[in-house]
Amino acid sequence: MTDKHLFKPIEWAGNTLKNRMVLAPLTRGRAGESRVPISIMGDYYTQRASGGLLITEATGISSEANGWVGAPGIYTDEMVQGWKAINERVHKADGKIVLQMWHTGRASHSDFHNGELPLSASAIAINDDGGIHTPNGKKPFEVPRAMTKDDITRTVADYKQAAINAKEAGFDGLEVHAANGYLLNQFLDSRSNQRDDEYGGSVENRYRFLGEVLNAVLDVWPAEKVGVRLSPNGVFNDMGADDFRETFLYVAKQLNALKLGYLHVMDGLAFGFHERGEPMTLAEFRAVFDGLLIGNCGYDQATAEQRIADEDADMIAFGRPWITNPDLPARFANDYPLAPSDDMSRWYGGGAEGYSDYPAYKAE
Ligand SMILES: Cc1cc2nc3c(=O)[nH]c(=O)nc-3n(C[C@H](O)[C@H](O)[C@H](O)COP(=O)(O)O)c2cc1C
Repeated sequence: MTDKHLFKPIEWAGNTLKNRMVLAPLTRGRAGESRVPISIMGDYYTQRASGGLLITEATGISSEANGWVGAPGIYTDEMVQGWKAINERVHKADGKIVLQMWHTGRASHSDFHNGELPLSASAIAINDDGGIHTPNGKKPFEVPRAMTKDDITRTVADYKQAAINAKEAGFDGLEVHAANGYLLNQFLDSRSNQRDDEYGGSVENRYRFLGEVLNAVLDVWPAEKVGVRLSPNGVFNDMGADDFRETFLYVAKQLNALKLGYLHVMDGLAFGFHERGEPMTLAEFRAVFDGLLIGNCGYDQATAEQRIADEDADMIAFGRPWITNPDLPARFANDYPLAPSDDMSRWYGGGAEGYSDYPAYKAE
């Protein structure tokens, strides 16, 4: 077929992954008000099962974690059953799939929570005029409520229960979402975290919450099946502080000590850059993290090949190109043309259209 680096199999958590292409987590808002995964989501993931590893769209660990219209959850029996049906189909198609565990924190709104304010490290709102899509239309971001220690303890328990549920649903592993300005990222970032207790201030303190979440998850899953996503360069959801490099190198070292199976770093700048110094590179993470390293953000086939050839990454995650090209690995392997990207308005829900109806390549 090809001697391209992206198509060399790789070992992950006792599995041989068939290639180095990872389906990036992509929120598509198809689960409706119930947040129960539905069959067109199974179509979408099964169509993409030729990837070496699939990461699900961000999935709420509790109702408190929600902040996106139509995003799925994993905190009720129906949700577990919905995911189970999807995972059985993906496995039948010879795919491997991990669940991205999500708590939106302040990137939410009281309209999602019966009028209760969203939670965060500190009472500091996201400074972004774009606002947030709520169940009642677009609204400005609110000043969140700073989490108490009880809130933190309860949320750690929610992560553990979600990890138990993910096992029941038949996932092959978990990705803890600590990127893109959501709750765990809000604790890591020294602008959004202004706490003066043991969860704020020093980098050790700002990491504490993520460390507790990981310890809870690792009570349920072996470390090799657990990964973490970080976005050290990202500005999305008003992230970025001057000490970003110190913060994320410290975090990566802690994740290495836990012997996690992979670290997923959005090193590219295509999703917005905070411009608080030279962007962090995969090579910097490679130097401190021994498990598999996944790069992401703005990659095409050539740049992905180069990163793996340079041994700066083991795998590369692709997001937007995979939306309109369900058979992206075959297109890369055979040099088939790519379908152009599509209108992102269909990000916000709908049915199969603009979601699971993109065709695989057919020669004319
Ligand atoms: C429609 C859409 C939905 C996304 N949803 C998520 C998500 O649920 N979790 C996450 O960590 N990142 C999410 N992202 C970010 C992508 O995973 C990825 O990092 C980004 O698209 C850059 O990679 P790309 O250039 O290959 O698309 C989303 C991006 C897009 C365009």
